[in-house]
Amino acid sequence: MNFDFHSPLPLALYAHIPWCVRKCPYCDFNSHEKSGALPEDAYVDALIADLEQDLPRVWGRRVTSVFIGGGTPSLFSPEAIDRLLAAVRARLICQPDMEITLEANPGTVEAGRFAEFRAAGVNRLSIGVQSFDDDKLKALGRIHGRDQAIRAAEQAHAAGFKTFNLDLMHGLPGQDLAQAMADLELAMSLKPTHLSWYQLTLEPNTVFAKRPPVLPEDEVLWDIQEAGWAKMAENGYAQYEVSAFAQEGHHCRHNANYWSFGDYLGIGAGAHGKLTDLQYQRAYRTTKKKNPKDYLDPAKPFLAEEVDIAPREMPFEFMLNALRLNAGLPISLYSERSGLPLAGIAPVLSKARDKGLLDADPSLIKPTETGHRFLNDLLELFLPDNLPKSRIIPIAPAR
Ligand SMILES: C[S@@+](CC[C@H](N)C(=O)[O-])C[C@H]1O[C@@H](n2cnc3c(N)ncnc32)[C@H](O)[C@@H]1O
Ligand code: SF4
Repeated sequence: MNFDFHSPLPLALYAHIPWCVRKCPYCDFNSHEKSGALPEDAYVDALIADLEQDLPRVWGRRVTSVFIGGGTPSLFSPEAIDRLLAAVRARLICQPDMEITLEANPGTVEAGRFAEFRAAGVNRLSIGVQSFDDDKLKALGRIHGRDQAIRAAEQAHAAGFKTFNLDLMHGLPGQDLAQAMADLELAMSLKPTHLSWYQLTLEPNTVFAKRPPVLPEDEVLWDIQEAGWAKMAENGYAQYEVSAFAQEGHHCRHNANYWSFGDYLGIGAGAHGKLTDLQYQRAYRTTKKKNPKDYLDPAKPFLAEEVDIAPREMPFEFMLNALRLNAGLPISLYSERSGLPLAGIAPVLSKARDKGLLDADPSLIKPTETGHRFLNDLLELFLPDNLPKSRIIPIAPAR
């Protein structure tokens, strides 16, 4: 593989906190219902040790964003988050204006806590609202109600967060168009700078997969999507990715790095990383021990798996990310970030352009409006013969 040595890849850091108050029936993230007090100190120690073991992999590189995700990171105390961020700053070269996001559940934020997270260095919150409809929240097994969700957004403003995201889901059990729009309208009235708007999917190995709720018909889902996109555009939330909408200048830098095939270190139970080793000309993925007990066991290594990204899978991996972005990416980034010559995908790019799925501008890899609407068909063109179609999951939330 020939990597471009002149283009240092941006580097992000993801830290996973794997506990929640209760496991939601739709959720397949690595999250575990907490029982009793959380081993907060031991876990932060483990995150720091995990980071230290990964340092030689990223020596000298600059970190552009940190994302503390879960699970429910807002279950951890501001002191624990402060200790983690101080350790990150002491060990990595951090961009001065680095974006630092923390995921928060409205059911876990008593007054004053957001301000303390901010004092610890967090400068962006991502609040898991999902819906403002109490019946829907109950059906989703959420631990919070409408009022707590509203209060969480108000507290984010009061604590001085200049940028924060609300996570909403649509296509909920029994949801109609009016209910989905009411959720969006209320969300926008709370003036977040960013909205993540996911269509509920039934994921394998979840309670919903075993006992599926009745979801809206496809036509209703289509109407919700079209109306939602229009409503957010009218209100100044520009769609820049399949499920991400932001006011001017407020896109999530951390997620944009995933979608532009940048590198990221993943620390914490079950965390994924993707790294490019320029010296040995390889790109690989890492996964840390998934079970929190194993992860915390000092006798066991943090790393569970490390696999090279095969060059033949690289074009699909790149497109799986890049094509999520409405504005697409400069075509030069393909070779810079995959290490592969553009000539290898030139025939598929022309085919996609001929079908009207990719923009005709030769300097970009950018889906057309049709390509955006039929993203699965577009992605399929880049799928190597032996990979199953199940690899195409464009609406899944970023991890
Ligand atoms: C990793 S979760 C973390 C957020 C936080 N734990 C919470 O739920 O409040 C990130 C987001 O993914 C979305 N999500 C999780 N499972 C989903 C599913 N099955 N379908 C669609 N969106 C999902 C939810 O909007 C959730 O807020
Ligand atoms: S959706 Fe969020 S709160 Fe619910 S189980 Fe998953 S990570 Fe935990």
